[in-house]
Amino acid sequence: MNLEEIKKLNQESSGMGPQEVLQWGLSNIHPKLALASSFGAEDVVLIDMLMKINPEARIFTLDTGRLNQETYDVMDAVKSKYGLKLEILFPETEETKEMVRDHGMNLFYKSLELRHMCCGIRKVKPLNNMLATLDGWITGLRADQTQNRGDAAKFELDEQHGGMVKLNPLIDWKWEQVIEYIKENDVPCNKLHDQGYPSIGCEPCTRPIKPGEDLRAGRWWWEQESDKECGLHADHGD
Ligand code: ADX
Ligand code: SF4
Repeated sequence: MNLEEIKKLNQESSGMGPQEVLQWGLSNIHPKLALASSFGAEDVVLIDMLMKINPEARIFTLDTGRLNQETYDVMDAVKSKYGLKLEILFPETEETKEMVRDHGMNLFYKSLELRHMCCGIRKVKPLNNMLATLDGWITGLRADQTQNRGDAAKFELDEQHGGMVKLNPLIDWKWEQVIEYIKENDVPCNKLHDQGYPSIGCEPCTRPIKPGEDLRAGRWWWEQESDKECGLHADHGD
């Protein structure tokens, strides 16, 4: 698709709900379409919607090797509830071995450069390898998560990944809508959300937030940047 077609889709989709966006993706791109799931609240909502539309819909996750036990618990709960064949991607062994040999297991606390190296090897490379096999991907991004994401749309041309289609069906949903959907539909949900984590990444790099803190304040909490990203949705520029 080109930029004009994507613009047109966004104009036509202003009244579309998430299920219709997913339906569009499944009708036009499946099986070269997959949901990227970190098993946070937004992603389990999308899994429930997808499974209700087409149980053959594809879902993948990036297992960095550093996730919380609670995330593995919800992964298993979702797998058994929906009987889905989850595609689990891992970092390359040799690169990971070299990284921890040279910089230690907890390199991310030492410098921004090393943190980006870890995200690059554990998340970004496996994602890029997966996306190279697809024509479209689905994410659980919401506009009010970060400043960058405020500009995102339901349908995007993903220039960062070779111009493929990126679907963000929940882009205009609020946190409360996500939680309401989970309760109404009895969707398995990560227990960390009840313990003060609105955003969940890797265990050593995520902590709960205090009342009034920014939604992403718990991600890479020792860093000062206001728009912290790991490179899945925005280039670091390094
Ligand atoms: S991140 O870029 O800061 O890590 P965030 O945790 O907010 O992203 O999640 C936003 C979306 O990115 C999720 O809804 C999901 O689509 C995708 N995503 C994030 N982490 C993963 C992961 N480990 N595996 C697959 N998809 C992920
Ligand atoms: Fe590594 Fe932390 Fe990035 Fe996970 S979030 S890949 S542990 S730096």
